[in-house]
Amino acid sequence: MRRFAGRHVLITAGAGGIGAATARRFADEGARVSVLDLHAAEAPDEAEGRWLSLALDCTDRAALEGAVAEAEGTFGPVDILFNNLGQSGRERASLFCESDEEVWRFVTEISLMSTLRASRLIAPGMKDRGRGRIVNMSSDAALSGDLRLADYASAKMGVIGFTRALAMELAPHGVTVNAVCPGAIATEAHKRIPRETLDALVAATPAGFIAAPEDVAGLVAYLASDEARFITGQTVAINGGRNML
Ligand SMILES: NC(=O)c1ccc[n+]([C@@H]2O[C@H](COP(=O)([O-])OP(=O)(O)OC[C@H]3O[C@@H](n4cnc5c(N)ncnc54)[C@H](O)[C@@H]3O)[C@@H](O)[C@H]2O)c1
Repeated sequence: MRRFAGRHVLITAGAGGIGAATARRFADEGARVSVLDLHAAEAPDEAEGRWLSLALDCTDRAALEGAVAEAEGTFGPVDILFNNLGQSGRERASLFCESDEEVWRFVTEISLMSTLRASRLIAPGMKDRGRGRIVNMSSDAALSGDLRLADYASAKMGVIGFTRALAMELAPHGVTVNAVCPGAIATEAHKRIPRETLDALVAATPAGFIAAPEDVAGLVAYLASDEARFITGQTVAINGGRNML
């Protein structure tokens, strides 16, 4: 299937993990793909001429503006935006009562502000053209809370509120906006999680396994497809049944 032939897809944090799997999925299905990441993203063989990798810090406002302009100059207006960038404080995560505002600011900037900023750059063009798809990366942590990650859960819940508000604004203009909430997905980020924590996660997941980035890529591609035209403002959990909406 070449569902995305001729479409320009822009993905933040698209060189690793879920972002990379999603970039490959869109490329496989015929899209022109712009990957914005700290690191270069190697093009799949068959995506020759349809793949642009731009290395930048997506939380840097000027760098992001420049990258979006370069991507649109190369492949035309963005049809599909996947706001994938986000992360917890990771090694600096702590109980909230012991937490540090500097870490909250980092987590909020990378997980929420970057989503608003990229959308602010790209959504007006979608609105003018009367079509577009925005998929925002939230997390199961927003739905369930996450011990030691109050800042991350807050930012990812912020992504859900933003998704709903922007969906209302853009629905009359043929643009859908949805959020995805993955549970445990095996990426580089997981290598930093202690084995006992991962085992506990699996035990709390009715499906009984940790999913692959490709599982999330399939969901993002569906939400970005023409078939999903009546789905907007939604929060779609992909978590093996760990939380049920
Ligand atoms: N892996 C999971 O279990 C899981 C679960 C729920 C939500 N998420 C969310 O999914 C998204 C992707 O997570 P992942 O696990 O695939 O991550 P990952 O660590 O595997 O990859 C993250 C990518 O982000 C890039 N990156 C980091 N900081 C950047 C910056 N400032 N500018 C540009 N690029 C930057 C990295 O270079 C890397 O390519 C995040 O928003 C995360 O919060 C992940």
